Amino acid sequence: MEKEKPIGVFDSGIGGLTVVKRLMSVLPKESIVYFGDTARVPYGSKSNETVIEYSIQNTKFLLQKGVKAVVVACNTASSIALNELRKNFDVPIIGMIVPGAQMAIDETRNNKIGVIGTRATISNKAYSKAIKEINSEIEVFEKACPLFVPLAEEGWTHHKATYEIAEEYLKELREKSIDTLVLGCTHYPILADVIQDVIGKNVKLIDSGIASSEVVRSELHRIGLETNSAIPGNASFYVSDLPTTFKEVAELFLGKQINEVIKVDVSELPKH
Ligand code: DGL
Repeated sequence: MEKEKPIGVFDSGIGGLTVVKRLMSVLPKESIVYFGDTARVPYGSKSNETVIEYSIQNTKFLLQKGVKAVVVACNTASSIALNELRKNFDVPIIGMIVPGAQMAIDETRNNKIGVIGTRATISNKAYSKAIKEINSEIEVFEKACPLFVPLAEEGWTHHKATYEIAEEYLKELREKSIDTLVLGCTHYPILADVIQDVIGKNVKLIDSGIASSEVVRSELHRIGLETNSAIPGNASFYVSDLPTTFKEVAELFLGKQINEVIKVDVSELPKH
């Protein structure tokens, strides 16, 4: 039965597990197949052509696992490859950008929104385009924060170095009187406490993982693909490389234990 198929989720690595965590709490009965492209991370510093090629391969891999929908749990891939994926595949494909943009628009009171993300997401102006398409009156201030990715992966969630780097990255945004800040990279929710302290308590942080999970829920409902299961769904995890620290870092991102992680060789991924 189509309804009982899992939801596929992919990311360039482990960041997408913050999205899986949200999906599990919004849709606890749904099963999930996760693919983290840990062998080819980061996507944030790669060309658009490469990110599109990898995203197509990852989607094909998930479809081979029998998923009913695909969540692109990577802001970089969402900002670059979403249209291409929707052209190539006919399952619902949900990205991070529009849900996060909409949530930020719903939250802002002074129409000044900040966005932080990888270099690729920021240089593609993914969020500012999405926000301005919905409401052209809103001012958007964007800042690439590439060092947040390794800091999150290092588990430095409250480290002094993280505070110092956050101070440096966020000082420009602090001067813009923003009242809402989009965490436009799936790694950043891990550093939310530091980001909140540095940007100020009066700024609302937007987690695109929460926003996109709500969109997945409404989309599955709209097309009649919600599971009828009465029991909690299961999750399987595939990665293209298994770094030694994977399990502990992945559990930090997911907020719970992972039993098994299966390694898939990049050369075995479906060809573009
Ligand atoms: N997961 C990516 C994102 O959300 C960050 C890591 C990368 O650069 O691949 O943009």
